[in-house]
Amino acid sequence: ETGAITLDPGYKNTGSCESAITFLDGEEGILRYRGYSIEELAEKADFLEVAYLLIFGELPNKIQLQKFNTDILDQSIVNEDMKTVLHGFPDSAHPMGVLSSLTSALTAFNPKSVNVESEEDMYKAIVKILAKFPVLAAWTLRKKNNQTLFNKDTNIGYVESLLKMMFQEGSKNYKPNKVVVNALDKLLILHADHEQNCSTSTVRIVGSSHAGLFASISAGVSALWGPLHGGANQAVIEMLEEIKADGGDTSKFIAKAKDKDDPFRLMGFGHRVYKNFDPRAKIIKKAADEVLGQLGVEDPILEIAKGLEKAALEDQYFIDRKLYPNVDFYSGIIYRAMGIPTEMFTVMFAVGRLPGWIAQWREMRLRKEPIGRPRQVYIGETHRKFKEIENR
Ligand code: SDX
Repeated sequence: ETGAITLDPGYKNTGSCESAITFLDGEEGILRYRGYSIEELAEKADFLEVAYLLIFGELPNKIQLQKFNTDILDQSIVNEDMKTVLHGFPDSAHPMGVLSSLTSALTAFNPKSVNVESEEDMYKAIVKILAKFPVLAAWTLRKKNNQTLFNKDTNIGYVESLLKMMFQEGSKNYKPNKVVVNALDKLLILHADHEQNCSTSTVRIVGSSHAGLFASISAGVSALWGPLHGGANQAVIEMLEEIKADGGDTSKFIAKAKDKDDPFRLMGFGHRVYKNFDPRAKIIKKAADEVLGQLGVEDPILEIAKGLEKAALEDQYFIDRKLYPNVDFYSGIIYRAMGIPTEMFTVMFAVGRLPGWIAQWREMRLRKEPIGRPRQVYIGETHRKFKEIENR
């Protein structure tokens, strides 16, 4: 029922791993966090509850959730000197590159977070990064816009305070729209973990050298940045904008995506594991209609996206290769409606994925897994003698 696969004894050297955190069935389009379906969690839980579930394995009761939240709030001040690191970047720097650097810089201000051995010290590092990461994420936007940097408002919720740090104009009474807070909370849940994807595998392998949680998360941010991974949500909107500018004709882009000589791929389509609909894409597509309706936003990009999806799903090339919309196909449309700039979409993905990265790092450390060391099949030259330069 769990779909568990048996790995050959040598699996430790093949880069695969055992994990009890997230279950995916790519053929059936099933996603579960610690056994709970993504559909139920997106509907009934909030992001901090899901973060607790992923990291500690159980849904928290009221007391556990309250303590978790308090422990996080107690750590939400970011060292003032981190602003010096931030201001060292040019305004043109991509927010994901800035976020990765700031996250790594956290180690310098929290040296005890490296090579933690006890569960207690791991917990201290975990609440620290859950507290500070959203602040750093918001600062990447504020830096780009040359705006004041705010620390977290500890009197409001985790997601609400993130939005406030991102969009607050001088006045202290900025209140994010409830529709936006709820929609972002749901999006963060949908991005929270996804088994051994590129960035999570990166976090696990960097963490396996005991480089510390902040350095491991920083590496995960860098891996997520790529347009084939988390950067796809930004690339989807850029692609849809191009289709719109080109008169909305999707057939040209479908043809380009099928052309083997053209490196262009339909962004937001296809997946390493899902050969059926990405269950998250289904939820986000429905949410896009709801959120834009509630916000009264008319975005022609949404209709172009639906037209592109329909055309691709009816095209034999995509049908033969089981290519369906993934989590990134519709998420950017909601972020846009929320007023989040395109360059910040992957930062939002990173904020959502943070609990999953943490959970996977903690699992790897508690299981005392050996340092990651994937093996290779050598296909290079056989042994040969050195040649002096005169004879080359
Ligand atoms: C994420 O792993 C995860 O779990 C990731 C993620 C997570 O939550 O962490 O789900 C988040 O990264 C989602 C993916 C976001 N990326 C994109 O949307 C970028 C566009 N997608 C593709 O680049 C691609 O689908 C990948 C990168 C996602 C997967 O690449 P693969 O493994 O090479 O795809 P494949 O092996 O399934 O490809 C099979 C065929 C190939 O053609 P043939 O050689 O058989 O002729 O399908 C083609 C591919 O060229 N193909 C596409 C395509 N995706 C695959 N052709 C056109 N457009 C596409 N999007």
